[in-house]
Amino acid sequence: MNKQYEKIQKLMGRGCDILGTKYAIIGGAMTWISDAHLVSAMSNAGLFGVLASGAMDGDLLKKEIENTQEKTSKNFGVNIIYVNPKLHDLIDVCHEKKVSHIIIAGGVPDKSVIEKIHSYDIQVMSFAPTLSIAKRLFKNGIDALILEGTESGGHVGPISTIILIQDILLNMCEYPIFVAGGILRGEVFASMLQLGAAGCQLGSVFACAKESTAHQDFKKAFFKASGRDAVTPVQLHKKFPITPVRAIANVGTDEFIEKQREVISKFEKGEVSLDEGRLLLEHFWAGALRRAAREGDVTRGSVMAGQIVGLIKEEKSISEIIDTIMNEAEQYLEKIS
Ligand SMILES: Cc1cc2nc3c(=O)[nH]c(=O)nc-3n(C[C@H](O)[C@H](O)[C@H](O)COP(=O)(O)O)c2cc1C
Repeated sequence: MNKQYEKIQKLMGRGCDILGTKYAIIGGAMTWISDAHLVSAMSNAGLFGVLASGAMDGDLLKKEIENTQEKTSKNFGVNIIYVNPKLHDLIDVCHEKKVSHIIIAGGVPDKSVIEKIHSYDIQVMSFAPTLSIAKRLFKNGIDALILEGTESGGHVGPISTIILIQDILLNMCEYPIFVAGGILRGEVFASMLQLGAAGCQLGSVFACAKESTAHQDFKKAFFKASGRDAVTPVQLHKKFPITPVRAIANVGTDEFIEKQREVISKFEKGEVSLDEGRLLLEHFWAGALRRAAREGDVTRGSVMAGQIVGLIKEEKSISEIIDTIMNEAEQYLEKIS
């Protein structure tokens, strides 16, 4: 480690040990974006890259892991969505390919799943939305947790990062916890470590890094947006709950409100059942992230981004992003010492 980063390095020690990296920063998984190219670039730059397995099956994941391993010899993780019907196949693939860490998202993993992953000698991380779930997960053997505030991009919970810090992190600093959602500047990164975090997870900023293969129009939409453009959809009827996904508001966002109105009206007239109506709404966004991130449809696709998007104004390389964070962190620590 560069001598100029001495102070921040001391604070990062625990997180770096857990991740096996130079920096205690996780490049959070992003479906359709966190591919072999971006993840290997992150890991080669000293971060902990995480492959997004999204809705992949075992064969696809195997190929993506192999591609990543061809490009880096450094540690990286695999993010697996808990409700993926292929969950166990995907875990088995990680075992076969000797992946070091699995990150379970979209659900609270059962003790048996944690034990299965451990039996393969793989570390397992997950997300905790409440203190009681965090305690249960550590009791069940989870190796580290991520607290992800509602500021984040993608699927989000209702609670902000600052509340999760006070509710969970400050009550369990002795456990390895990473903080995600709305973090970009080095001063804030350093402060999280001072508060007892093992490290931080960042997403949006890497979606539009030079090494990201996301469509240029997707990146441009990020650079143009302000924080208030990164919204979760409005829900019009309590019988039709909407999955909260934070994305940059566009024509699709407005059309989704219209779609809800149409479905609710049909339901009230008895033209569709509750289940049929819910399915119609669920299908509205199917494939929308792929359309935005891969095909550049930023008008009707889902341009998932966190509120931090307002601070991301240009395409930078991963090493430029990291150098800025580390310099800011070091200067901040110097100033307050
Ligand atoms: C485009 C996009 C897609 C994402 N997809 C996933 C995903 O598939 N799985 C997951 O656990 N988190 C996903 N996330 C969340 C990120 O991994 C990360 O936790 C989040 O972006 C951190 O907040 P930030 O955007 O404020 O940095 C996604 C975020 C974005 C912006």
